[in-house]
Amino acid sequence: MTATTALPHTLDTPLQWSDALALDMPVMDETHQEFVALLAEVVQAADDALLPHWSALIAHTQDHFDREDQWMLATGFAAGNCHATQHKVILQVMREGEARGHAGDLPVVRQMARELGLWFPQHAQSMDASLALHLRSAGYDPHTGALGQPERLPAQAIHGCGGSCGD
Ligand SMILES: [Fe+2]
Ligand SMILES: [Fe+2]
Repeated sequence: MTATTALPHTLDTPLQWSDALALDMPVMDETHQEFVALLAEVVQAADDALLPHWSALIAHTQDHFDREDQWMLATGFAAGNCHATQHKVILQVMREGEARGHAGDLPVVRQMARELGLWFPQHAQSMDASLALHLRSAGYDPHTGALGQPERLPAQAIHGCGGSCGD
């Protein structure tokens, strides 16, 4: 099956995995498939199950983003590059939603889940796609941390990300 776009999905239908989200980097794609599956569980959760699913998504997303951040640091990105910064902001917002959910505001969590379903394809197809290309170009092995082509890394630390920051 070949799809040209990860959209459309309506606001009440969870984002579905599609080939358009695949980045030809198995360890990243597997994590992204898990993200999509966990997000679907949140979207479809009954009220009494919403916060446990939301917390599970946050824990998974922390690992997911930490791993990408670490790959960036290992391959010449500056610590405050815009991709890592976007990860940080998303996690902050998700944790704020968790706190508000525990205070009784479940609609805000549901709204955030819908927005994450719109945000994720854009992030995967810009910042993560660019990172996957960069890692392949450097011959980076995410399992061992070995760099096959270190000479391909830029001399200067990378601040941009090939995503919405415009670099
Ligand atoms: Fe990612
Ligand atoms: Fe990312």
